[in-house]
Amino acid sequence: MYKILVSRELPGNFLSKLNIYNVLKWDGSSDVQDWLIKNISDADGIIITLNEKIDKNIIDMAKKLKIISTFSVGYDHIDVEYAKARGITVTNTPEVLTDATADLIFGIMIAAARRIVEGNELIKNNNWKSGWNPYFMLGSEVHGKTIGIIGMGRIGRAILKRSKGFDMHAIYYSRHRHDVDAEYVDIDYLLKNSDFLVIAADLNSDTYHFINAEKISKMKKTAFIINGTRGKIIDQPELVNALKKKIIKGAALDVFESEPIDGNNELINLENTVLTPHLGSATLETRSAMAETAVINLINVLNGKEPLYKL
Ligand code: DGY
Repeated sequence: MYKILVSRELPGNFLSKLNIYNVLKWDGSSDVQDWLIKNISDADGIIITLNEKIDKNIIDMAKKLKIISTFSVGYDHIDVEYAKARGITVTNTPEVLTDATADLIFGIMIAAARRIVEGNELIKNNNWKSGWNPYFMLGSEVHGKTIGIIGMGRIGRAILKRSKGFDMHAIYYSRHRHDVDAEYVDIDYLLKNSDFLVIAADLNSDTYHFINAEKISKMKKTAFIINGTRGKIIDQPELVNALKKKIIKGAALDVFESEPIDGNNELINLENTVLTPHLGSATLETRSAMAETAVINLINVLNGKEPLYKL
């Protein structure tokens, strides 16, 4: 009987489909990475999340592994090439989380521009002392502005679709030109012209710290950076510095270089940031669909069939 490791309880009842196997679930009583290391040597399949790191060392420990099924679209936590070279299939859960992630990215963009979180805090901290006045808490408009999207995969397209409803002028930068209703531009043009620079790219060796001080210095003083894919695409200390010096107007971030964010991180105390704790795919519907996809991917591979998605 195949031995399967499952690193987290998942929404929906999809893990019960694995009852035909010998399933070992992490019970939370130890470090999850240590638990994986302890149990992976004779595992045939694993279902993991983006918190678990599957590097060369752990892959070498896995003598029988056939499938790494990650409950995520991102796969920067897995040495995919090494796994594939060892004959292990690696699968992920794209598509089902595209819309939820794009909704959240659009939401934090509007929240930053229109100071929604600041307004909420003002009221909840009982600091709304003066009534309506013409200059009170003025924000930046979103409709009609230029959105500059970095990356035009599934999430980039879903953001583009939403921007149309706000009559935004859309430009994008990507490794390749895509057949989309947006202007394909070079990175300098994108930096100089975007009112909202939205990162919708994967983390890989090309995108690591892609947004740094030099690039931020080319942006409009009134612009915002929005990131909802992977924190390491931005050089975070350089962004903090730019926000402190008001080189750009603000940032809305759902992802960080290290998660959870350190309580002393300067981003937390900056007035011009909206921060959410990696909530892009965090709806019950989406997380259930991700669970179903991850389980089907695993079962299909163990049955010699094609998974729904593979890397
Ligand atoms: C993913 O699946 O990679 C996302 O970051 C989770 O929301």
